[in-house]
Amino acid sequence: MSQPQTKGVDLGALGNAGMQSGLQETRKFPPPASISKSAHVKSMAEYDRLYKESIENPDKFWGERAGELHWFKKWDRVLEWNLPDAKWFVGGKTNLSYNCIDRQVQAGLGDKVAIVWEGEPYDAAKPVASELVRLTYNDLLREVSKFANVLKSLGVKKGEVVTLYMPMIPELAIAMLACARIGAPHSIIFGGFSASAIKDRVEDAKSKIIVTADGGYRRGKVVPLKAAVDEALTSTDVVKTVVVYDRVKGVGGFKFAMKAGRDHLWSDLMAKASDKCPAEPMDSEDLLFILYTSGSTGKPKGIMHTTGGYMVYTYLTSRYVFDLHGEDPAEMHWCTADIGWVTGHSYIVYGVLPNRVATLMFEGAPNQPANDRFWDIIQRHKVTKFYTAPTAIRAFMKWGEQEPKKHDLSSLKILGSVGEPINPEAWMWYHEHIGGKRCPIVDTWWQTETGGHMITPLPGATTTVPGSCTRPFFGIDVSIVNKDGQELPANAGGFLVIKKPWPSILRGILGDRERFLKTYWSEIKGCYFAGDGARRDLDGNFWVMGRVDDVINVSGHRLGTMEVESALVSHPSVAEAAVVGMPHEIKGTGIAAFVTLKTGKAPTEELKKELTNHVGHEIGAIAKPDQIRFTEALPKTRSGKIMRRLLRELASGQEVKGDTTTLEDFSILAKLRDTDEA
Ligand code: PRX
Repeated sequence: MSQPQTKGVDLGALGNAGMQSGLQETRKFPPPASISKSAHVKSMAEYDRLYKESIENPDKFWGERAGELHWFKKWDRVLEWNLPDAKWFVGGKTNLSYNCIDRQVQAGLGDKVAIVWEGEPYDAAKPVASELVRLTYNDLLREVSKFANVLKSLGVKKGEVVTLYMPMIPELAIAMLACARIGAPHSIIFGGFSASAIKDRVEDAKSKIIVTADGGYRRGKVVPLKAAVDEALTSTDVVKTVVVYDRVKGVGGFKFAMKAGRDHLWSDLMAKASDKCPAEPMDSEDLLFILYTSGSTGKPKGIMHTTGGYMVYTYLTSRYVFDLHGEDPAEMHWCTADIGWVTGHSYIVYGVLPNRVATLMFEGAPNQPANDRFWDIIQRHKVTKFYTAPTAIRAFMKWGEQEPKKHDLSSLKILGSVGEPINPEAWMWYHEHIGGKRCPIVDTWWQTETGGHMITPLPGATTTVPGSCTRPFFGIDVSIVNKDGQELPANAGGFLVIKKPWPSILRGILGDRERFLKTYWSEIKGCYFAGDGARRDLDGNFWVMGRVDDVINVSGHRLGTMEVESALVSHPSVAEAAVVGMPHEIKGTGIAAFVTLKTGKAPTEELKKELTNHVGHEIGAIAKPDQIRFTEALPKTRSGKIMRRLLRELASGQEVKGDTTTLEDFSILAKLRDTDEA
């Protein structure tokens, strides 16, 4: 089979292809009867019927589902599609904060628990009430209304971007719902990103206000968030107002500074705020949020999602994929992602709350204070739906099955996986040791750009296969094609594209129409190009193989190799850098950096450490290279292009052992330099 290839993307780049290597997986797991019986979608026949309807008659399918939610004004048309621009529920007026909260209160469910939060310092043996919080829909309505009034009192108007840089505390959900309530799009920055990442994002979004916290907890240590904001604001004057939630409250002598006139304490503002703030009727196509994500070139791009379509799609995928039943008081949904990523936006907050189900938020790390923290949480809170990433599952495998065995996990009904391909070994371990061989696993393929699940099993209908994300969700018209857009036969690897718009499709990249057109709409004519390689097997199941562009997935976190390269070359000792992904036992993909130094700079172990920390400072700890390899020159084609495939092979082929300061000798590859890379 020839390798399909398009300009700028490279199917040969598939880092994780090896784990699925084209072999047909023979283990199959039919949906358990206990789940199918009460599931929203009960059988493959029902899936097929609904899928057909969703593709052939999207107006009917989506119109009926949207009607389950609250609208101030019903839409005039379900869809307007002028490639590549889609508008959904055109002319409709709604509010997502209203649908997450008020709709439940109106239905008499105000006393139902909406959010359960546990802080990392919480100790079940010595409980401190402030570290375990339960908010009912009534509580949420009060707190969100108050914070919405706080934002208004600070001058925030409809359409103005509010940046949130917070730990995983309930106030993060409160702040985002407050933004949605008044129609101020939020831009959430993951708390692991550094000061310079904050600066870039607030400048790009022209965001005049940041909501942050003094700090958060991670593995027993305080992450000083306010200090990172202060550092970022020394090099930009876009931000005029900072709101600080004092979470750590000086514990252990922890300090943070407040700048008069600019900084306000959350508690001071909330004390004065009214708890009545009607939700603003928003147009379906009004901007709901921006979320920055990495691409193959340039700085992270601000992906735009709008109100109506995103609301309906995340509501429905949450409902069907996790089979949520708001009428069941035992339902407890736990998505372990950070809200700073799209998974947290959609499947901790926006898709779950409209389903009238309690959502669990946990602030800390899975091994704090011990390796069984997650299993302890599941037991104590009787979690029913659990959604995590393969990288976490591989870490759990390493820590051993005795950890989950210490706990009663019998409340679990459905398990989910997201962020990167799940290797069949991890899938089987998850199935046996967490799911007790009875819980269906939904391996959900999707992206920041797609807003919600795209290819995924439905737990009551789909026969699952370890390593495959199985079938497209309703309305998703997926195809595997070659560079000319021709559909490929079963089992042939090619580019994953989507041929029709879906409600939560990105509406663009903030301020960069050209990049939007080029990245998603120019590789394969007439289709949304996802940037992933995949194949479909003889049963019609999809197998996502990984990125085919210069984006890598490190522990399920998306990074552009170019971002890491830019961070490296901003160090005074570095002349050139090339970054590639390499297989990593826990992270899935690790980061390998090949670096040439400026004349007179010595390739020492100290310098390696310094460069690693420099990348951490420029981007965040998640971007720190796993390997730095010094070289005299980078292997390049005659036209000067770095031969990445060669570097990938080198990075994945050999462990660097012994004297790691030795220069990489590419002279043996000299003859390759004369051959332009295929
Ligand atoms: O390569 C795919 C991988 O993650 C990319 C999207 O990353 P991001 O926008 O950060 O969103 C992650 C959470 C939705 C995709 O292009 N990916 C995500 N889920 C899966 C996956 N790869 C294989 N299987 C998955 N289930």
